[in-house]
Amino acid sequence: MLSATSKETIRATLPAVGAAIDDITTLFYRKMFTAHPELERDLFNRGNQKQGGQQKALAGSIAAFAALQLEPDQARVDLILSRIANKHASLGVKPDQYQIVHKYLFEAIVEVLGAAVTAEVATAWDELYWLMAETLIAMEAGLYRSAGVAAGDVWRKVLVRERRHESADTVSFVLTSIDGTPLPSFSPGQYLSVGVHLEDGARQIRQYSLSSAPSNADWRITVKRVDAKTLPDGSQAPAGEVSNFLYRNVFEGDVLEVTTPFGDLVLQDDDAPLLLISAGIGCTPMMGMLSHLADTADPRAISVLHADRSPSSHAHRAELAELVDRLPFAVMHRWYEDLGARSPEDRLREGRADLGEITIAADTRAYLCGPLPFMLGMREALLKKGVAAQNIHYEVFGPDSWAAAPA
Ligand SMILES: Cc1cc2nc3c(=O)[nH]c(=O)nc-3n(C[C@H](O)[C@H](O)[C@H](O)COP(=O)(O)OP(=O)(O)OC[C@H]3O[C@@H](n4cnc5c(N)ncnc54)[C@H](O)[C@@H]3O)c2cc1C
Ligand code: HEM
Repeated sequence: MLSATSKETIRATLPAVGAAIDDITTLFYRKMFTAHPELERDLFNRGNQKQGGQQKALAGSIAAFAALQLEPDQARVDLILSRIANKHASLGVKPDQYQIVHKYLFEAIVEVLGAAVTAEVATAWDELYWLMAETLIAMEAGLYRSAGVAAGDVWRKVLVRERRHESADTVSFVLTSIDGTPLPSFSPGQYLSVGVHLEDGARQIRQYSLSSAPSNADWRITVKRVDAKTLPDGSQAPAGEVSNFLYRNVFEGDVLEVTTPFGDLVLQDDDAPLLLISAGIGCTPMMGMLSHLADTADPRAISVLHADRSPSSHAHRAELAELVDRLPFAVMHRWYEDLGARSPEDRLREGRADLGEITIAADTRAYLCGPLPFMLGMREALLKKGVAAQNIHYEVFGPDSWAAAPA
């Protein structure tokens, strides 16, 4: 807990810090990467840095954590910090690295806010930083302990046993142990990080959800190649670095560097009706969950909703239908923006996903994964249908600026 004096100083200065937080985090990363170029090259996602997504996620989390010290809501604190701790664990972040972040974050705060950073203000924000950092360090220690690894020791080499096209721009990789020791188990919905060495010498890391069930001895991930595109302002967004590297260069018999699985979007073990809603490549955690539900002959009522551009771009399309068939109380609804020559039929619709005609019990537990605007739309529709906000869980395939946003 913050001391009473620091709490009052945070209350008085939060509006000013909040207004400058984007400038602060941008300057913070610039300073930290100048002093430690290896962090930008080998640990942080440089695509997120260029797009500004990570700066926003960091800024949002600090501002939200500060506000939550003034108006406590433990469930929201846990949600925000658990998401970050799991991401950190999947990258092997270690406690001593918090000193590095502290140094450059505070240099940036002083540079941006200038004389407003009195000794009292510095002390209060320092206390807040360490409260957040110590909580994250403790959560990460717990995650490393549960995974049975030393702090940060999350990387292993695995063999690609199989590579399969799941749609024109999507490939799956079945990963197996090299030395015969079993791969660690995971909870359906979790992800691992993959590290690849790119042509310019950088080691870039990205996360991929496990699209197979934990009962399999092997792991499977499914990767969608991210194309270059022209942005609304006419500028060009380059092709994704790691997804294209994996798509073009990784085949059966190759070795990949991956981490132990982490992630907090996991199936709750209760008997609430389940609703799995995905769009595009957001199907991957749902494939992991559904495979597990089918393997364990889960008796829950399950509704599977998926939206995609077209049947041909829908990765794991046939496998999804097979899984739903194996589950006694599961139904599937699909929406394709372009159905091609096919006609709409029962639960197969043309257009964008719309919950209007879908019956959803109020005690449903919903899991969402897909582009952020898609998930925000679905969440709003679910809330209107009476689903409780705390029963709507989601995964963002990038830096999460949603968790810390005002509820
Ligand atoms: C928990 C989690 C689970 C995930 N699971 C999956 C999964 O199962 N399957 C899957 O395919 N993906 C998944 N992802 C997404 C994945 O981690 C990668 O983000 C994705 O593969 C893109 O990585 P990349 O290196 O190819 O693209 P990056 O190189 O990281 O580029 C990402 C975007 O940034 C843009 N960009 C880069 N530089 C610039 C610039 N200078 N200006 C403008 N735009 C720029 C690119 O055009 C691209 O659109 C997951 C992510 C998370 C966080
Ligand atoms: C109190 C201190 C810290 C806070 C508040 C913080 C916050 C965050 C947040 C909000 C995210 C995005 C999570 C997501 O949505 O996926 C993130 C990701 C990340 N953090 Fe931290 N972090 C802290 C310390 C550290 C430290 C010490 C390191 C190691 C040097 C680190 C390395 C990373 C990396 C590499 C990512 C992923 C970046 C990306 O994928 O673009 N963080 N952190």
